[in-house]
Amino acid sequence: MANDDQTQSPTLENLHTETRSFPPSDEFAAQANATAELYAQAATDGPEFWAEQARRLHWEKPFTEVLDWSDAPVARWFADGTLNACDNAVDRHVREGRGDRVAFHFEGEPGDTRTLTYADMQREVSKAANGLESLGLTKGDRVAIYLPQIPEAVIAMLACARIGAIHSVVFGGFSAESLRQRIDDAEAKLVITADGGNRRGAHLALKPLVDAAIAAGDHHPEPSATVEKVLVVKRTGQDTHWVEGRDTWWHDVVEPASEIHVPVMVEAEHPLFILYTSGTTGTPKGLFHTTGGYLTGVSYTHRVVFDLKPETDVFWCSADVGWITGHSYIVYGPMINGATQVLYEGTPNTPHQGRWWEIIEKYKVSIFYTAPTAIRTFMKWGEAIPAKFDLTSLRVLGSVGEPINPEAWMWYRRVIGGDRCPLVDTWWQTETGSIMISPLPGVTATKPGSAQVALPGVSAAVVDDHGDEVGPGHGGYLALTEPWPSMLRGIWNDRPRYERTYWSRWPHLYFAGDGAKRDADGDIWLLGRVDDVMNISGHRLSTTELEHALVSHPWVAEAAVVGASDETTGQAVVAFVVVRSDAAGADASGHDVSVALREQVAKEIGPLAKPRTILVVSEVPKTRSGKIMRRLLRDVAEHRPVGDVTTLADSSVMDAIREGLDSGK
Ligand code: PRX
Repeated sequence: MANDDQTQSPTLENLHTETRSFPPSDEFAAQANATAELYAQAATDGPEFWAEQARRLHWEKPFTEVLDWSDAPVARWFADGTLNACDNAVDRHVREGRGDRVAFHFEGEPGDTRTLTYADMQREVSKAANGLESLGLTKGDRVAIYLPQIPEAVIAMLACARIGAIHSVVFGGFSAESLRQRIDDAEAKLVITADGGNRRGAHLALKPLVDAAIAAGDHHPEPSATVEKVLVVKRTGQDTHWVEGRDTWWHDVVEPASEIHVPVMVEAEHPLFILYTSGTTGTPKGLFHTTGGYLTGVSYTHRVVFDLKPETDVFWCSADVGWITGHSYIVYGPMINGATQVLYEGTPNTPHQGRWWEIIEKYKVSIFYTAPTAIRTFMKWGEAIPAKFDLTSLRVLGSVGEPINPEAWMWYRRVIGGDRCPLVDTWWQTETGSIMISPLPGVTATKPGSAQVALPGVSAAVVDDHGDEVGPGHGGYLALTEPWPSMLRGIWNDRPRYERTYWSRWPHLYFAGDGAKRDADGDIWLLGRVDDVMNISGHRLSTTELEHALVSHPWVAEAAVVGASDETTGQAVVAFVVVRSDAAGADASGHDVSVALREQVAKEIGPLAKPRTILVVSEVPKTRSGKIMRRLLRDVAEHRPVGDVTTLADSSVMDAIREGLDSGK
C-alpha cells in the first residue's frame, strides 16, 4: 500500500555534479566485445535485435515468433521455440569441444578446493538429474534449494533445469520461518540442503532449519503439506537429525546414478525458477522467470558488459547463488558463455582480511563483480591489505546492488583496478533478470557513481509523477518503457499483485521502484528506492515485513521501521518500537528489548534482517488516516532536523520521540 513517502519525488539535494570521466583506452576498445554501433543497431532492429541475441543459444526447435505482448504486462518471447537451460550451460560446451575447460575453481572457506571442468559438470548434473528423477521429480515440480555456496548449489539448480523442474533457491541467511513461507507458496515437493556450511571459521548448521521449517510450528499448526523428500549434501560432517523415509543423503542418491541423462527440452516460456524478494507488503513475492528470454538476457549482458573472452578470462562474481546476481551471473549467464569462474564459499575476512585478494591472485581473476557494501568495508580495512597481493590479472571491474558513491567507485578503480580497468556500475533487479543500465567497457567513458546508460536493446526513462519523461538535470522515477526478454513473467500464482505492483502507476510503463536523475549529459544516476523497500548491503528488505516480525513479539505493541543511511551497508535497519505496559522482562533502558527483538527478527526473517538500532518510543508518528510517517522517523534516525509535521494526527509525537531519545531512553 502506498504510504505518504511514496507520493513524493526522491530527494535531489544530494545529487553530484561529476566532472571526472574515464574514457576507454584505445587498446581496450580495439578488443572489446561491445561497440558503439550496438546502440544504433538495437534502436533500428527493435525486437529483432533480441532475436539475434537469442539465436546464440542452442534451440532444439528454433523459434519463429519473437515477442508476443498481446497479454501485456505478461510477455511471451520466442514462444514457439524449445530448448533446455542446462543443455545450453553445460552440454553444449562439451559437444562443441570445450569439455576440458574449467567451469569452476571452487574454494571452500577452510581452504579445500575443487576444480570442475565443463565435462565434469556434465557428469555431475546428469547424475543429479537422474537422482532427482529417481525421487519422483518431474517437469514443472518445484524444488526448494537451501545450500551453502558450494558446487552442489550450482549442480542442483542446473539439475532441476535439466529435468524441467522449477528451482526456488532460498538464501542460507534466511530463517526457518522464511524458508517455510517460500516452500508453502511454491508448493515445493523437495528441499535440497546440506548438513551445514562454513562461515567465519565455524560450522553453520542448515539442516535443523529445514527440519523446523517443514515441521508444525508457531505460525503453522500443520507440517508442510507438500514436501515429500529432503536431499542432504554432506558438507561439514556435523551431526544431523534424520527423519527416516523423508531424508536422503545426496551421495546416496546422486553418486550411484547414471552419468548419462538426456535434458528435457521445454518451451521457451516454461518457468525456469522462482526467486522470492521483499516487496512493500509483509509477504515476499515469488518472482518467476522463464527459459528462453531469461537465458537470452543473461548471456547477452554477460558478454557485452563484462567483455568476457571465455578462452582466457577468469570471472568471479562474489554474490551468493541465493540471490538473483548469483542466478544470472554465476549460474546461467557465465556458464552459457562458457566462462571459467571462481566460486568461493566463505566470508571476505576468514581467516584474514586479504582473503578475496588472495583468491584473485591465486586464480588470476580477470573480471571481478561485487557490491558497493563490500568495497566500503575494504576501504575501512585499508588499502595496505589489497596492496599485499598481485591484482594485475584484473581487467574489468563491476559493481551491483545499490548506488555506489563516487569515493567508493574511485577507490575500487584505483586500489583494486590499478587505475587501468574499466569499472561498470550495473543497475538491475530480481525482476529485470539481467543488467539493464550500465556503461559498456571499451565504449563508454565512465563516470564515478553513475550507472549511466540503458544497454543496447533496453529502453529506460526517468519520469515524473505523471509518467512524463524529465529533461537533463531533473529527477524522478526510473521506468522501463519497452518489454525485454529477461523480464519477470509475474508473481507466482498472483497476477493481480504483479499488475498492481509494477504496471499500475502509469499505463504501459514498468515501475522499478527506484528514484533516478538524468544529469546534464543525459546520464542516469540511481537514487535508491522510493517505496518501503530498504537496501541493506545490497539485500532487499521490506519495512512492513520487519514491522510484522517485531509486533509478533509479545512485548511489542507497535513498531515502525526505516532504512537509515549507513556508511558501510548503504542503509541500516532502525526500528522504533512501542513496548506494552505489561511487558514482563523488558527493562526501561530498552537494552533487553533491543537484544530480544534483534533475536526475534533473526528468528522470523533471518540474521540478515537484524536491526542495527532499536529505539523504544512512547508513540509512532502517523497521519490522520493512520499511515506511519516514515519520512519523519528517517529524519530522527539520520540525526536531521525533523521535516514538515503538519500532516501528523498529533504533532507533539515527534517532540516526545526527540525528548525520549535525548534523555537516553
Ligand atoms: O534499488 C535498486 C538496487 O537494488 C534493487 C534491486 O534489488 P534486487 O532485486 O535484490 O537485485 C539486486 C541485484 C541486481 C534496485 O531496485 N540496485 C541494484 N543495482 C543498483 C541498485 N541501485 C543503484 N545502482 C545499482 N547499480
